[in-house]
Amino acid sequence: MRFNLVILMKIVILGFGAVGQGVTRVISLKREYLLDKYGLQLDIVAAVDRSGAALSENGLEPETLLETKAETGKLSQYPEYGVEGVSGLELLDEVEYDCLVEVTPTNIEDGEPALSHMQKAMEKGKDVVTSNKGPLALSFTKLAETAQKTGTNFKYEASVGGAMPIINLAHDTLAGSDVESVYGILNGTTNYILSRMAKEGSSYEQTLNEARELGIAETDPSQDVDGWDAACKIVILANSVLNRECALEDVKVEGISKITPEAMALAKKEGYLIKLIGEASQDVLEVSPRLVKEGSPFAVEGTLNVATLKTDLAEDVTVVGKGAGSIETASAILSDLLNIWNSG
Ligand SMILES: NC(=O)c1ccc[n+]([C@@H]2O[C@H](COP(=O)([O-])OP(=O)(O)OC[C@H]3O[C@@H](n4cnc5c(N)ncnc54)[C@H](OP(=O)(O)O)[C@@H]3O)[C@@H](O)[C@H]2O)c1
Repeated sequence: MRFNLVILMKIVILGFGAVGQGVTRVISLKREYLLDKYGLQLDIVAAVDRSGAALSENGLEPETLLETKAETGKLSQYPEYGVEGVSGLELLDEVEYDCLVEVTPTNIEDGEPALSHMQKAMEKGKDVVTSNKGPLALSFTKLAETAQKTGTNFKYEASVGGAMPIINLAHDTLAGSDVESVYGILNGTTNYILSRMAKEGSSYEQTLNEARELGIAETDPSQDVDGWDAACKIVILANSVLNRECALEDVKVEGISKITPEAMALAKKEGYLIKLIGEASQDVLEVSPRLVKEGSPFAVEGTLNVATLKTDLAEDVTVVGKGAGSIETASAILSDLLNIWNSG
């Protein structure tokens, strides 16, 4: 059925890397589906990278945005509507829009520039959807209070586990159940390294180099291997799912760099694997290597993420999914946009 009345949602995409481009591709791929199923038209009225922006109040062409970025590396080169040097903050004053999709890089020192982008959008009455962990891990309470004060929607499903549904699962599907704890593998890079080490008997350094060559680990992998990426996600889950006010500094964090092939072999002999586990409850906020039983739901391989929500009514609910990827992460952002549209 095609809706007679089409609702327009104007969005700004701030950051145009893997996720920003994924969102753009998904909007293009799902254009007809969104019109048919929801009567919703998602118009990208601005997209921003470090070169500047492309902006048009009548909506930009997703395919042209992707081509411009692929060919020139700069959104400011968008034909006719490209603007050089404009910053995200300036742009948020200039454009008429409904929702900000904030997908700039994660910064766990001070959350910037994303924190200011999100605050500004909400203070102007705009909804915010993000995959950016940094501002949430450092300033969750402040952002949630701003959303409440301004009556705006603030959604961040993609910030934990990429495409793996967990936050909206807890808030919506498990509504009425009390989530007592969350326990899981929340970082794909470290899970890839540990899976390979368990399988090949290889050293940590050797496996990390292999992961770097495959583009699974970044050139500077410290946020992943030292446990900080998973710690950010634990903070987001603690605040949003357990209603426990906390920040990154409250998490006890240990990474995987000290795990030896000998420790792996010993664990294996006893029927266990070593995994980097994040845990949040009212008493615990921790990321550390732990033993999990071979054959258990936590024995996932490769870059997969897995998490168990322990609840009072539904008992344990476990989800597995892709923790990263351009289109995969964009799927979570699209679901947040649709939730906002549904609630409007
Ligand atoms: N990639 C994933 O699978 C994934 C999954 C879950 C969550 N996340 C999170 O999602 C966010 C985006 O990730 P990503 O992989 O898309 O990152 P990315 O590929 O590094 O892209 C970041 C984008 O932000 C732009 N940017 C950087 N500083 C900016 C600024 N001051 N103003 C405007 N734009 C700026 C960059 O511009 P240039 O293009 O000009 O360099 C680039 O387009 C991060 O916070 C990440 O942690 C990513």
